[in-house]
Amino acid sequence: MKIDKRLLVLVLTFSLVFSFSFGLLAQEEVEIFSWWTGGGEEEGLMALFEIFNENYPDIEIINATVAGGAGTNAKAVLKTRMVGGNPPDSFQVHGGAELIDTYVKTDMMQPITDLLEEWGVRDKFNQQILNMSSYEGEIYSIPVNVHRGNVMFYNMSILEEHGITPPTNLYTFVQTLIELDQAGVTPLALGDKNKWTATHLFESIMVSTLGPFKYNGLWDGTTSFDDPGMREALVAFKEIMNYVNEDHAALTWQDATRRVFDGEAAFNVMGDWAEGYLKTLGWAPNEEFGWVNVPGTRGSFMVITDTFGLPKGAPNPEGAKAWLKTVASIEGQDTFNPIKGSIPARIDADKSKYDPYLTDSMEDFATVTLTPSIAHGSAAPEGFVTALNDIINTFITTGDVEQAHQRIKDAANEYLEM
Ligand code: GAL
Repeated sequence: MKIDKRLLVLVLTFSLVFSFSFGLLAQEEVEIFSWWTGGGEEEGLMALFEIFNENYPDIEIINATVAGGAGTNAKAVLKTRMVGGNPPDSFQVHGGAELIDTYVKTDMMQPITDLLEEWGVRDKFNQQILNMSSYEGEIYSIPVNVHRGNVMFYNMSILEEHGITPPTNLYTFVQTLIELDQAGVTPLALGDKNKWTATHLFESIMVSTLGPFKYNGLWDGTTSFDDPGMREALVAFKEIMNYVNEDHAALTWQDATRRVFDGEAAFNVMGDWAEGYLKTLGWAPNEEFGWVNVPGTRGSFMVITDTFGLPKGAPNPEGAKAWLKTVASIEGQDTFNPIKGSIPARIDADKSKYDPYLTDSMEDFATVTLTPSIAHGSAAPEGFVTALNDIINTFITTGDVEQAHQRIKDAANEYLEM
């Protein structure tokens, strides 16, 4: 067979040029893992990615997300990857027990104290928040934000229509729920298809009945789980559950928040990522939605912090560091947080960028008692969180206060180191 030489040369040249330019164009990649997939969360993440892309145009972000609020599904996927030696370059993890017990004590994270110093930002963070990312003198992750858990958002026009002022203690809360119920309005929206949202409501009620100091004492052993406040929390929770939407077990947190937006429910207890969500739906604080602390928790700030760290064995550690630098930057924090519904973890933020709700949150954060969230991984190790999710989930069906209380005490004995 006679091969046309000219064709051969052409093909060879083409393949050479192609492979050469492909090699040049093949971008460096950095994989960022999170559960921010929608409902106000994704928008914040995308804004951070944009800043990253401007500063590091040669590094392509692989957005590795696993949907499900509070990391319901993502946390398990991440753990399998980490334990299996297949870590992403950086991942979302809550400061506190979730980071320290699951990944730092097990030697899966790289300390990054030197990086914070090199970038001159170590003293730019709120030190209480940075402590939640620290273990034995080293820092292991960068807090990107501070969310507040004990918030109750409401539809301003529904409250106005029914002449209701937002309740400030558990007694007036229940009275208000009854009033709305009698007026034919769903008083409180809940979506506990994923169990954590019920725990989220319950932990705020715990702060309400125990007070912030006793609540904090549960985690260092100075408060007993036998404290009457624990039982009171279960009783109050049971009562409040009479006033949630009947289909609560079929809804996600976004669905529940959306009920308030759609005018189908008056209140929603949710972390302030719901504030970010309501804003992406087109609402504004103090215009269409209002907020109040979960009744009886005015002196506390249920703190939740999302952080990013550097896992050992990250495929692209330099890319990960570029990501961490972005997360730590004032620009990153002041762009991400106003969208996400959180306040910055840095103390030198530009307050003018934050709306009235977030400004209010910043003021409280600086003055009231911080209480770490159980549902969002800060207060207690994973084993206890999973157990409590199951206990509360069963309790919603049985309503058996004594049994739930006993099971909580058993879980505390099993999982909390005292
Ligand atoms: C929390 C997380 C928030 C938000 C929320 C709902 O655990 O800290 O950033 O994403 O879950 O998914």
